Amino acid sequence: MIVCQCQNISDRDINSAIDWMRASDSAALITPGKIYRALGKQADCGGCMPLFLATMRKNANLEVPMELRGLRARTTKDDQTCKATRKSSII
Ligand code: FES
Repeated sequence: MIVCQCQNISDRDINSAIDWMRASDSAALITPGKIYRALGKQADCGGCMPLFLATMRKNANLEVPMELRGLRARTTKDDQTCKATRKSSII
């Protein structure tokens, strides 16, 4: 099935690119831009992005590697409280 009409990219092309990228780098973050580059193409109108992303999400190799998960700092209740003092809040 053709996913990107502008660049004539099929779902098989997308899956092949994802599988190839995952096989060559287990820690790679795979994005649509990287898939376009891997296929030697460049997005044009972007109208295919919803279907392009849906096709990507169906591929089991798209998952973010475990070692890269949870890197964002967790916020605690203390981080969410206002640090403004009475003096600083008076204009
Ligand atoms: S349909 Fe994919 S860039 Fe236009």
